[in-house]
Amino acid sequence: MNKKILLSGVKPTGRPHIGNYFGAMKQFVDMQDEYNCMFFIADYHGLNFIQDGPEMKQQIIDLALDYLALGLDPQKSLIYKQSDIPEHTELAWIFDTITTMSYLMRAHAYKDAEANGKEISVGTFNYPMLMAADILMYDADIVPVGQDQKQHVEYARDTAQKFNHIFKKDVFKLPDVKIMSEVAVVPGIDGRKMSKSYGNTIPLFATDEEIEKAVMSIVTDSSGEKPERVYAIHKLFKSELELASLYDENKGKYKVLKEALILDIKNFIRPLREKREQLADDTEYVLDVLREGGKRAKLKAERKMEQVREAIGVKLY
Ligand code: ADP
Ligand code: TRP
Repeated sequence: MNKKILLSGVKPTGRPHIGNYFGAMKQFVDMQDEYNCMFFIADYHGLNFIQDGPEMKQQIIDLALDYLALGLDPQKSLIYKQSDIPEHTELAWIFDTITTMSYLMRAHAYKDAEANGKEISVGTFNYPMLMAADILMYDADIVPVGQDQKQHVEYARDTAQKFNHIFKKDVFKLPDVKIMSEVAVVPGIDGRKMSKSYGNTIPLFATDEEIEKAVMSIVTDSSGEKPERVYAIHKLFKSELELASLYDENKGKYKVLKEALILDIKNFIRPLREKREQLADDTEYVLDVLREGGKRAKLKAERKMEQVREAIGVKLY
């Protein structure tokens, strides 16, 4: 049976939070039976942010543990890290040569960095081309990501089209982006998008104390009967139907509602955290998963690069 290919990656740049989970990782886990899945650790993208060897190593292992604890299954899915397949950076270079600076300057991530007056590395500027390579290398049909990554997947699509047009060969398949609409943007404890960079997260493998602290610090607006920010997060853990009576019976009782949310988050996180602790005791297993996944992905990448080198005319023998 020909299943469609689903591919996605996460940068190893810190503890995942429930925004990452509902916006991206949960979709990965749910789709493993329906698709041929490929999930990878985008360590070379992460290098734009983490430039410390020992820390990078730890972050990669941590993310692999996160993936496995959440239920990504190496029997079903290909799990690997980007840097094990140098073909990604090779392909990114080839894409650089067919891409203009003005096109990359229109990328949101670049524009945001520039608006904040940041010094922008070439790696950050070229970020979308490496991501296009990650996706197009494996003929991905579907790329599940959060809303903020949508434009990058569109860049991959454009790049596939451009390459095929310039070199007059259908080497690359055009990928589709998949966004989960109800939870496209998970709000943080301050109401803004939950993000590591805002420090407003609830970590996915949080301890009970961390959950209590995060929920208690959700900023509530004392004028209403329903604490909207508490509710917006609660909705992720319980259906609106279940929440309707709870919020109706406790109008204005923010403390009670926050305590109910704490309990629901704790019940959700506990089994995930325990699974992760178990896996952390067996690092060899985790490294084996990555090593094996990397080997299999590399074989696919090598095959694709043969076609690419043929198309661009550098393959002479
Ligand atoms: P952060 O903003 O915390 O740095 P990342 O940029 O590492 O998160 O995002 C990793 C994945 O999780 C991406 O697919 C991203 O779109 C998704 N994601 C991150 N934050 C949210 C959020 N608040 N709501 C929905 N999805 C999110
Ligand atoms: N840029 C993505 C992020 O920050 C991570 C990523 C890298 C990715 N390559 C990818 C996601 C390919 C999907 C497909 O979240």
